Amino acid sequence: MFPLDFPLTLLKKHAKRGECVLDPFCGRGTTNFAARVLGLRTVGIDASRVAAAATQAKLVAPTPTEIVEGAKAILRRKKATDMPEGDFWRLAYHSDVLRDICLLREALLNGSLVAPVAAALRGIMLGALHGPNGQTKYSYLSNQSPRTFGPKPAYAVKFWRKRKLLPPRVKVLDVIVDRANRYYGRVSPSVVGAAIEGDSRHQSTIEEAREVVGQFDWVVTSPPYYGLRTYLPDQWIRNWFLGGPATVDYSSHGQISHAGRDRFVSDLREVWLNVGAHCRPGARMVIRFGSIRDRLVDNPARMMAASLKDTGWIIVTVRHAENAARGKRQAETFRRQCASPCDEVDVWARWEP
Ligand SMILES: C[S@@+](CC[C@H](N)C(=O)[O-])C[C@H]1O[C@@H](n2cnc3c(N)ncnc32)[C@H](O)[C@@H]1O
Repeated sequence: MFPLDFPLTLLKKHAKRGECVLDPFCGRGTTNFAARVLGLRTVGIDASRVAAAATQAKLVAPTPTEIVEGAKAILRRKKATDMPEGDFWRLAYHSDVLRDICLLREALLNGSLVAPVAAALRGIMLGALHGPNGQTKYSYLSNQSPRTFGPKPAYAVKFWRKRKLLPPRVKVLDVIVDRANRYYGRVSPSVVGAAIEGDSRHQSTIEEAREVVGQFDWVVTSPPYYGLRTYLPDQWIRNWFLGGPATVDYSSHGQISHAGRDRFVSDLREVWLNVGAHCRPGARMVIRFGSIRDRLVDNPARMMAASLKDTGWIIVTVRHAENAARGKRQAETFRRQCASPCDEVDVWARWEP
């Protein structure tokens, strides 16, 4: 995830009123949120349904009261029919909390709320599902966990047992109220925009995006870092909440291939060609890219240049981005082994077909 400051600062400085912003690898929708704050039309595309749902939540504008009333109506029901079982689930969530999570999951899957309220509540729940336990107040629903990735069951059970950590009896509605006020208390009215769950290597996906907002003037994006292939398994609990299985999903469905440097570069190339076909001449693209050290077969700037070669995108400048190691790394807080990140680059290009 890149910091909000990155797309916000560059769009604030360079984008004009009425322009339109695409992110074909939107992740949690940071670019789309920045565009929304600036009143620009925007579409985010991601192959992961968790990412698409997180982005959608950033583009709607229900009131906190609508969200809370929607949640209350769901939680009034008594029993969730589909509750996952086993050591992991017992230790991850207090039974009352898991029941409430399942009630909300079921209701959101059955489409029992109006679209913007459902999108916001879904986003709130995805954000609250797992994370560290606070000293004074609970912001997350789980036993001690990382926030950015779902812990793998065998490891997590061992971790919690060794430290005798029990799942807290968090009041789910209180967490929803808090987050609804924080995220939707002062949002700008929703703009024309959408989040699409899809594969950006497919022309039809980019066409769908263009139909929502028209031709693109800006592409601000960050493709998967080379060698980092865990986007889907890392989000397995959130994926479960959105209707996926209650076990880790190790598939890489729709993801850019990491099978080798050439395959990776040619997959990216497909995306740049597809995207360019729906951009205005002169449109600008800013790509933040890096690779993780254990797969360093080429430097990020060279790989990106190779993927852009002869696509109609002309590289204007390449700059060093902030080094990811400077930020606080979530993986370290749960003692998972981390690959050390290397320098990231920002590649600026112009569409000149
Ligand atoms: C580095 S992350 C983007 C993070 C984003 N900038 C943010 O701030 O949250 C890359 C994203 O690309 C997505 N992705 C990978 N292959 C894709 C494809 N073929 N089409 C669309 N999205 C894809 C992954 O699911 C992942 O969410």
